[in-house]
Amino acid sequence: MSNEAEYKPGLEDVPAAKSAVSFLDGKKAVLEYRGIPVEVLAKESSFEEVSWLLIKGSLPSQKELADFDHGLRQRRAIHYRLKDLIKCMPADGHPMDALHASVAALGMFYPCPTVSDPAKHWDATMRLIAAMPTVVAAFVRTRRGEEILDPRDDLDHAGNFYYLLFGKEPTPAVRKVLDACLILHAEHTMNASTFTARVTGSTLATPYQTIASAIGSLSGPLHGGANEEALRQFEEIGDPAKVKSWLDSKLATNPKYKVMGIGHRVYKVKDARATVLQEIAEHMFTESSRPKSYETALELERVCAGIYGPKGIYPNVDFYSGVVYSAIGIPTDVFTPIFAIARVAGWLAHWHEQLVGNRIFRPEQVFTGQNDQKYVPLERRP
Ligand code: COA
Repeated sequence: MSNEAEYKPGLEDVPAAKSAVSFLDGKKAVLEYRGIPVEVLAKESSFEEVSWLLIKGSLPSQKELADFDHGLRQRRAIHYRLKDLIKCMPADGHPMDALHASVAALGMFYPCPTVSDPAKHWDATMRLIAAMPTVVAAFVRTRRGEEILDPRDDLDHAGNFYYLLFGKEPTPAVRKVLDACLILHAEHTMNASTFTARVTGSTLATPYQTIASAIGSLSGPLHGGANEEALRQFEEIGDPAKVKSWLDSKLATNPKYKVMGIGHRVYKVKDARATVLQEIAEHMFTESSRPKSYETALELERVCAGIYGPKGIYPNVDFYSGVVYSAIGIPTDVFTPIFAIARVAGWLAHWHEQLVGNRIFRPEQVFTGQNDQKYVPLERRP
C-alpha cells in the first residue's frame, strides 16, 4: 500500500464487514440487537432468548426457545478430563487464561472439524454458550479448593451459573441482575474481540478456535479487562471525598492518564449500558447501604464529566458493571470471564454471518522498513 493517507490507526471508521447483528449510534447512546433496544431486552428478555435473537436474526417462537433452552441445558456438563485439565491449572492464574485454554480444549473433546456442516455448527454454537459458564465456575471453585459442581438442568442460564459458582441458588432479584448483565454484554457491533472472531472465523478455523481467539482479545485492559481495573480504581481511591485529589495526582504524574471505565471509540455520550447498569445498582442498593465503591464511582463520574465531558468522554459499560458484580459476591478477576460468557452470543452471531459469502481477511500495511539490506554473517557483526 503506497497511500499512507488511507491508513487509519486502530482502523477507526474503517468498515470491516457488513453486519445486521447490532446497531450503535454513539452520539445518541442507541444500541439495538437486531433492531430491538438493549434497554428493552435487559428488562423484558432473557439471555437465552437474546442469544437466539442475535444468532438467528429474529425473536424465537415459544417452541424454538423451548428447544434451544433444552439444547443448552443438555450441553452444560463438561468432560471429566476437561475438569482434570482445569484442576491442573495454576490456582493463581487468571480465569480468562483458564477460559481461553478450556475453550480451545472443548474443541478437542467435542470436535467440529468442518465448518460446512450445519448440524455440527449448531451443536458447537449451543455447546459454547452452555459450557463456558461451567468452565469458569469449575476454575473458580478449584482454585478455592472446592469440588467442581455438576450443572443443574432445572435452572436457567444465569441461575445455573450462579449455582455453579456458589453452590446455592440465587434469589430471584440476583438472578435477574445477572441475567440483565449477560444481556447487556452480549453484543456490541465491530469491537476488537468481535473483529478478532471474524478474522479467525474467516480462515475457516473451528468455532472453538474462533471463540478462543476472541477471548484472548477481550482479555486486554483496553477492552473487557477494563471492568476489573475500574473496580480496583474505585477501591484504590477508597472514598468519594478523595476522588478529586486522586485524579489531580494521577494527572500531575501523567497528563494522559486514562481513567478506567470511561471513554469509547464510538460513544460520545454516556453508554446506554452504563445507564442501565447504574439503574440496576441503584435498585440493588436501595434496601442496604450503598457500598463505598459505588459512592466513589458516582463522584468520579461527576468529577470526570467536568474534565472530559467536553471531549465526549463518559462512562462506558465497564464503569458500573464491576460494582454490580462485586455486590453479588463475584470475585474481581471473574468480571471479564462473565463478559466473555455473555459476549460469546455476539461472537457466534458474527461468526455465522462471516461464513455466509466468506472471504479471508487479508488487509494491507504501510511498509516503514528498508529494502535491499545485506546479510552480514554473525562473526562479522559488531
Ligand atoms: N481517561 C482519560 N482520557 C481519555 C480516556 C480515559 N479513559 N479515554 C480517552 N481519553 C482521551 C485520550 O487521552 C485522548 O486525548 P487527546 O486527544 O488529548 O490525546 C482522547 O481521549 C482519545 O483517546 P484514545 O485513546 O485515542 O481513544 P480510542 O478511541 O483509541 O480509545 C478506549 C478508546 C476505550 C480504548 C479509551 O477510551 C480507553 O482507554 N478507556 C479506558 C479503558 C476502558 O474503559 N475500556 C473499556 C471500553 S468499553
